[in-house]
Amino acid sequence: MKGLILSGGTGSRLRPLTYTSAKQLIPIANRPLLHYAVEALVQAGIQEIGMIVGETAAEVEGAMGDGSRFGCRLTYIPQSAPLGLAHAVATAEEFLGDDPFLMYLGDNLLKGGVTQIVADFEESDWDASVLLTPVAHPEQFGVAVVDGATIVRLVEKPREPPSNLALVGVYLFRPAIHDAIRTLEPSWRGEYEITDAIQTLLDRGRAVHAEMVQGWWKDTGRPEDVLDANRLILEELAPRSEGDVDADSEITGRVVVEAGARIVRSTIRGPAVIGAEAVVEDSYVGPFTSIGPRVRLTNTEIEMSVVLADAVLDSVPGRIDGSLIGRGARVARRRRSPRAYALVLGDHSQVEVL
Ligand code: TTP
Repeated sequence: MKGLILSGGTGSRLRPLTYTSAKQLIPIANRPLLHYAVEALVQAGIQEIGMIVGETAAEVEGAMGDGSRFGCRLTYIPQSAPLGLAHAVATAEEFLGDDPFLMYLGDNLLKGGVTQIVADFEESDWDASVLLTPVAHPEQFGVAVVDGATIVRLVEKPREPPSNLALVGVYLFRPAIHDAIRTLEPSWRGEYEITDAIQTLLDRGRAVHAEMVQGWWKDTGRPEDVLDANRLILEELAPRSEGDVDADSEITGRVVVEAGARIVRSTIRGPAVIGAEAVVEDSYVGPFTSIGPRVRLTNTEIEMSVVLADAVLDSVPGRIDGSLIGRGARVARRRRSPRAYALVLGDHSQVEVL
């Protein structure tokens, strides 16, 4: 069994962060999302993994390397343009050969991993198996009609959803999928849809199995999803401290203080993680917050937020809540007149002021 992780795409819903960084490398509890994906595949016994990459190929490769530290071999496969999930599979056809494979969307997180669905597929003769979960807004997803554990029909982003069961970012295939993909035409949104390819398998009388997600599943496409994914991962945090916490600071709940971090006259309420070499001074860090490496937090209160490496938060007068702050960003109280907001924002940045 081979793996195919999709790490190309545009990431338009996560701009401006994705102007300068791959969305699959956004840190969740201070680790790139892709680490969780690769670990899930390795845990399921998959060691040969193709990584579909787009414009951010160099950055993804720099962060993930050859896979040896995860116990697998990573092969980088450039996709000419993000033309859809089925196009990504077609791009990887040579790498995949005649092997069965698991396709995993690189911006997805699954608490339960993929071990069970892989084991079930290996024992079966199904041509495909997909993972489903009930969702509140099925019209935003690929939606499945099932008969027991068998897929009857699939529709991509239907205006009138035939069920509330959405396809999540995990698919298993035998090589029949390649021929189904060859027959595809682009959809109304100009993409080669994997749901159309699976529907072609069904039309040809092939067996497509459905399994339900155990535990939670999170697609991190939008900023609020990143914060929620961060919360879910932090909820399972094992506390440890490798940094320096002074006597005037108070740490409660599950908190990780990474190597070289300094906490001075501050309160940290977990679950939270303070990154390596970060400095937190006269500040409050509340639950579900990840502070990245080398961040400087001075005289500031923050909770339910993700702050990326090297950002500076200095004497911000109101509490920061539900925020996603990019690398090297600076939010500080103005110390001169006029007393006004002074903003230098990247394209598509979002600010809500008091
Ligand atoms: P999406 O989230 O559907 O697409 P996107 O990354 O272009 O995001 P946005 O809608 O915000 O612009 O993609 C799911 C995953 O698959 C994600 O990790 C990107 C990856 N992908 C590819 O690698 N190649 C592709 O052609 C597409 C469409 C997605």
